[in-house]
Amino acid sequence: MSVADYHELMAHGEVPNVSIRRLKEFLGQQVAVQGWLYNRRASKRIQFLEVRDGTATVTATVVSGECPDEVFDLASRLTQESSVRVVGEVRQHPKRPDELELAVRDLSATPTHGEFPISPKDHGVDFLMDHRHLWLRSKRQHAILRVRHTIINAIRDFFNRDGFTLIDAPIFTPNACEGTSTLFETDFHDEPAYLTQSGQLYMEAAAAAFGKVYCFGPTFRAEKSKTRRHLAEFWMVEPEVAFLDLEGDMDLAERFLCDIVAKVLADCRSELEILERPIAKLEAIQAPFPRLCYDEAVERLAALGQHVASEDDFGSEHETVLSQQFDRPIIVHRYPTAVKAFYMKPDPTNPKRALCMDVLAPEGYGEIIGGGQRQDDLAALEAGIQQHGLPREAFEWYLDLRRYGSFPHAGFGLGVERTVAWLCGLPHVRETIPFPRMLNRLRP
Ligand code: 4AD
Ligand code: MG
Repeated sequence: MSVADYHELMAHGEVPNVSIRRLKEFLGQQVAVQGWLYNRRASKRIQFLEVRDGTATVTATVVSGECPDEVFDLASRLTQESSVRVVGEVRQHPKRPDELELAVRDLSATPTHGEFPISPKDHGVDFLMDHRHLWLRSKRQHAILRVRHTIINAIRDFFNRDGFTLIDAPIFTPNACEGTSTLFETDFHDEPAYLTQSGQLYMEAAAAAFGKVYCFGPTFRAEKSKTRRHLAEFWMVEPEVAFLDLEGDMDLAERFLCDIVAKVLADCRSELEILERPIAKLEAIQAPFPRLCYDEAVERLAALGQHVASEDDFGSEHETVLSQQFDRPIIVHRYPTAVKAFYMKPDPTNPKRALCMDVLAPEGYGEIIGGGQRQDDLAALEAGIQQHGLPREAFEWYLDLRRYGSFPHAGFGLGVERTVAWLCGLPHVRETIPFPRMLNRLRP
């Protein structure tokens, strides 16, 4: 609302509604705030209503004698999370100079039906998760989801600025991308189909049409284990670039992550403060990120007392221990070809190693990015599909990309929730998405 609109409404005898974030523009003026009662403290003559409206919170002060008696009465009966409209003058807070308060003159409310289930006392995680639809209103959850919002915006901005075209990948897919053990099968008009595990294969097709592309959407994995890093439904952004090799892919991932962190530092100070996230840890996230090949990483792990079985992938414990050695993300590249997906290109100098990479976040937050250079040779890709026991027919369209103008290309996928967990300093991914879907959790 502009200042002119404000005066026009006031001239018509209406008090304009203003969002709490914008109150400072209305110092000394009458406004209305619409929101919910977060908390109430009271003495005999004065009540402090903490009102939140999604943009911020403000203290609305109700003083006996300075407002009609009915208003004071109503305020004294308000229960937590009643929805309210508070009318009053915007004033400097008498004790906290950088804060504003609202001196209440009028109040209307829609009371709750019974007590709000989530009180400031400690609740168990299951209880809070069962009440996720209400839990979202709490300060911490609000802060986390604001950081998520900022990260998602930073992701889109980065690729849009960098000349990428957004290409949406389908959610119903006829084939696996990331191994058959985590597929969610569904019925697609009497034909079996799977919820997408990754948009990568479609991005490879799009890269041949647009050069630099990305998709960004929900992806699904029927993870059978309960871990703090796995969701059944998570959001992944997947860039794919024509004529890019593994080195270029690592450079892109590094530049991309630095950009996201800088944006969160610039825009989310108050959220990080609520989350008690030490800023210095995030300020340390600067290029260049250490790069280790798999074999070097295995040696380092051995020196730290962590054994990796010969030619095996890393477990989450290995990732944790390794990443704790550094103050910034590290890139581990060239894992054993044998444990990686069918589409990865073996290193021509050592075919037992794939031209792939994982970015491991510091402080033990684990793998946030996985990607690499794709197999671009038709015969080798056909062999890979067969070796992985995948149904050839389902991949004929994908093989076409190698039949008609094959090209070197690379890309990666970044998991949004693990990135949010890392930047917010959360031990578990369940609070990083508005309504998590995990083993044993489909509701609310
Ligand atoms: O390493 P992943 O499986 O790689 C792919 O899906 C590639 N096709 C991506 C590509 O190259 N276009 O998954 C990529 C990232 C992981 O690093 C992790 O951050 C996240 O996706 N991720 C999960 N996040 C939450 N819950 C899960 N179950 C996840 N599985 C993967
Ligand atoms: Mg991976």
